[in-house]
Amino acid sequence: MENLKQHIEQFKDEFAKQLRVAQTEEKLEQIRIAFLGRKGKIIPLMTAMKTLPVEEKRIFGPLLNELKKTSEQILEEKKQQLVNAKHKQELIRQKYFDVSAYKPNQLASSLHVYTQIIERIEDIFISMGYDIADGPEAETDFYNFQALNVPENHPARDMQDTFWLDVPGMLMRTQTSGIQVREMKKKGAPIALAAPGRVYRYEATDASHDFMFSQSEGLFVDKNVSISNLLATVQTFLQELFEEKNLKIRVRPGYFPFVEPGIEVDFSCPFCTNGCSVCKQTKWIELMGAGLVHPNVLKHGGVDPIEYSGFAFGFGIERVAMIKYGINDIRLFHNGSVEFLKQF
Ligand code: FA5
Repeated sequence: MENLKQHIEQFKDEFAKQLRVAQTEEKLEQIRIAFLGRKGKIIPLMTAMKTLPVEEKRIFGPLLNELKKTSEQILEEKKQQLVNAKHKQELIRQKYFDVSAYKPNQLASSLHVYTQIIERIEDIFISMGYDIADGPEAETDFYNFQALNVPENHPARDMQDTFWLDVPGMLMRTQTSGIQVREMKKKGAPIALAAPGRVYRYEATDASHDFMFSQSEGLFVDKNVSISNLLATVQTFLQELFEEKNLKIRVRPGYFPFVEPGIEVDFSCPFCTNGCSVCKQTKWIELMGAGLVHPNVLKHGGVDPIEYSGFAFGFGIERVAMIKYGINDIRLFHNGSVEFLKQF
């Protein structure tokens, strides 16, 4: 009997002690379960009481019932205290809430990486004496193909799968090269221009190909322009853009109907040493097509090919941005991921 009394006292002490430090409703619920729940500390006391002789049961029965009842009451009161305190705190918070308080913006805005690289490209060409030109994205078959020495049914049309528009003879431009003829027609020769802009191709996407991407055209026409001028210009531009004199580039012959001869410029893949999905296992990333402007193109622009010659080039803007900033998937440019964008 003495033993049970001691246990009841211990129960009370421990219960009060734990309750004193409890500061949340969750903690109160844990205490309720530990003391008064179906497997709580009160259960062994009840079980012990059942083994006592009848006269002692008469004493301990009401004692244990009282213990349970008062414990539940104390718990409820404590719960009410916590709820009231929380409510009071909330009222104070609302009273002193300052709607005009300044909170620094943690997601500072910035220009899209695409805009940043175009601005840099334009700055470099302007510093070399070039003008910046523009042209329409919904283009005519004439400027996108015919004026570039690609007549109807020419097999070179298959090099660039085209989004044709419902309007006859209109398409989403597949390249910025149409701007060459548009600008020569407007300004004649000599001429030096760079023309960045969006282009569209009906093709499957992968790490280095998108169906909508950007190119910058470059055109330089004057007297006695040679392929060395083209190579020197491309080299100077790339050295400026990548802020590096020793570029890992290679130049190889390439076919484009609007230049003769034609070349392609590749950049050593910065993402791998032995081939990867970006360079399609070739270890080189194709950057640009270029060459000496074909006499037929000069003629379409109203420029005399006997008196003038010129070079042109067109490079992928996302491709140079990928190399400059270490972006290993071109699709990141348009997917709107804040995680990606806030790096720039
Ligand atoms: C052309 O578009 C020619 N107009 C370039 C040119 C201009 C040649 C002037 C001669 C004189 P090409 O299809 O190879 O060429 O594309 C040029 C560059 O655009 C490529 O080197 C590559 O950097 C980029 N590019 C091409 N297709 C894609 C694509 N699907 N996604 C991303 N970039 C691409």
